[in-house]
Formats: sequence, C-alpha cells, structure tokens
Amino acid sequence: MCRFLLIVVLCLSLACTGCNSRETSFNHLNESVPEHIFRYAENQAADYPTTLGAYRFAELVCEKTDGRIKIIVYHSAQLGSEVEVLEQLRFGGIDFARVSLSCLTEMSPEFSVLQLPYLYSDDAHMWRVLDGDIGKHYLTRVEEFDLSGLSWYNAGARSFYTRVHVRAPKDLQGLDIRIQESKMMADMVKLLGANPVQMTFEEVYSNLQLGKVDGAENNWPSYESTSHYEVAQYFYLDEHTRIPEMQLMSKISMDKLSKEDRKIIQECARESALFEREEWNKREKLSEETVRASGVEVVTLSIEEKQELQNICMPLYEKYAMDYMDVVGRILALKESD
Ligand code: GCU
Repeated sequence: MCRFLLIVVLCLSLACTGCNSRETSFNHLNESVPEHIFRYAENQAADYPTTLGAYRFAELVCEKTDGRIKIIVYHSAQLGSEVEVLEQLRFGGIDFARVSLSCLTEMSPEFSVLQLPYLYSDDAHMWRVLDGDIGKHYLTRVEEFDLSGLSWYNAGARSFYTRVHVRAPKDLQGLDIRIQESKMMADMVKLLGANPVQMTFEEVYSNLQLGKVDGAENNWPSYESTSHYEVAQYFYLDEHTRIPEMQLMSKISMDKLSKEDRKIIQECARESALFEREEWNKREKLSEETVRASGVEVVTLSIEEKQELQNICMPLYEKYAMDYMDVVGRILALKESD
C-alpha cells in the first residue's frame, strides 16, 4: 500500500515538473521529448503580473498538448529589450513575447490610437474596447508584420515620476523625461514643455540614479518593481495614458503548428490574459502601498487639473488619429455603457 502511494506521489510530481514553465531545461529521462520547444520573451521580473501570466500560459499549453509543446519563459529582458525582441519575433528567432503596445506604434501609426492620452475613462472602459471588435481588429492587424496577436494584458495607467517635486504641469517644463520608443509620447512630453529622452526600460534606473534624466513615466507596478521609486521620489498621479500590452507569437513559429495546436495556443493565451488581469489588480494595489509607505510623495490631481492636461494633449488627437477618427468615435461611445 505504502509502495503504491509512493509511486502515485512520484508520478504526480513528475507530471507537475513536466509542465513547469519556470524550468529552463527539461528532464530527458522522465519526460517525453517535446515536438516543439519555444522561447517566450518578457522584460519584466519573474514575480511581475505579466510574467506570471506568461508562466500560466506556458503551463496551460504544456498541459493541453500533453507536453508536446514546451514554452520556456525568459523574464527580465534576458532575450533583449522590447524593440529587439520584436525584431526577433518577426524573423522567428523568438517565438513568443509580451510587449507594450508602444513598440508597435513604430510599425504602424494606427496603433497610436489605442494609447492616446486620456482616451479611456478607466480600466473597465479599456476592457470594453479591447475585449470587443476593436481589440480583435488590432490583434489581427499585426499579421501584416509577420506576427500573430494572441491576447491583451493589462498595464494600468501611466503617470510621471521625477527627481524634483512636480505639483503642476508647468513644473515639468525643461525637465528631461525618459519615454518609450513612441513618437506620440515624444510629442506629448514636448507639449508639456519637457524634453523627451528615448531609452530602453532596462536603462532607466541608472539614468535616473545618475541624474541623466529628471524623470520617467510608468504604472505603479513598474515604478515599484524596478525600484525607480528609490531614485525618483515624486509621483505625479496624472494617469495620462493607458498603454495595453499585447501577447504575440511569431508567425513563422505559428506556421509550424497544426490547426488544432494553433487553437490551443489561442485559447490558452486568452485564459492566461484573464489570469494576468487578476494578478495585475492585486499587484497594482500592493505596489502603490509599498511606494507610499517608503515615503514617496504622491501628488493627486483634481478633475480640473486633469482637464487642463487633457486640453494640452488635444493636438495629439489631430496629429495621430485624424485618419482613424471613426475608431476614436467608437471607443468614446463605449465610455458610458456600464
Ligand atoms: C511597462 C511595460 C514594459 C515596458 C515599459 C517601458 O512597464 O510593461 O513592457 O518596457 O512599460 O516603459 O518601457
């Protein structure tokens, strides 16, 4: 009886390690050799919500294909910066990635529409857009660039944080602010009278620490997880934009799969996205608490102050969304439908 129990426990643990996406190798003795071993790039840390979503995705795919497809998640930008990863994805050097939508705006200006300043009233509004026809349209839109859009992950709202105290938009004037690779963000920073400085996410901490830039902008979890809050202790909670994140697969890798396996990948991606959203909500609260408790000074804006910022950003709608006003109109129409 005892021996039987031992065998059961052993079998169970082997089954578990078989689909453990946190391992970077697989045990040739105990597992059947997978038909496909794919690499998944993630630039956030191992415990970050998007990385947890990636692990969940890899585990689900492994389980649903009985180990035929194994996905190894490389977190913390081990496979390169987001822009480099995107290049690799297009050529099949990397199979999967989760990227900030910002990176895609350089491929096609149409993607800028989804990250216009103050476009969404809140998270719920953004999900009505992304979970509906507009979200689906943008997921298929990437196919033109040899990518396959799988699902949308959450990345909350972004705000400015600085080494000097910013209490009003005018205090941003003359400051050097790190931005992602995005022409629209560069223009937004210029409209505020600040100087946009483009660099990768991985370079931001040292540049803030050395005073080479005066500030940056991001969401609560990124601000906390990267320790940027230790070197830029003023958080201006303006929530100027929500930049959703896309889970992508290389089209070259997708083409290697059977129709059934592609379906599994798509279903698991969607399931992992729901999991990520839950993890996001928990981490967002926790990160805010952590940085507030550390003594970071948070400036909260009144409705009028946010309105002032929205007015400053209005020219961006004209410059970046003129050709897509129908989409903007449909997005705005989803504002009040709760
Ligand atoms: C967010 C996003 C990252 C991105 C970063 C940035 O944190 O999750 O993927 O690289 O913004 O500002 O570059």
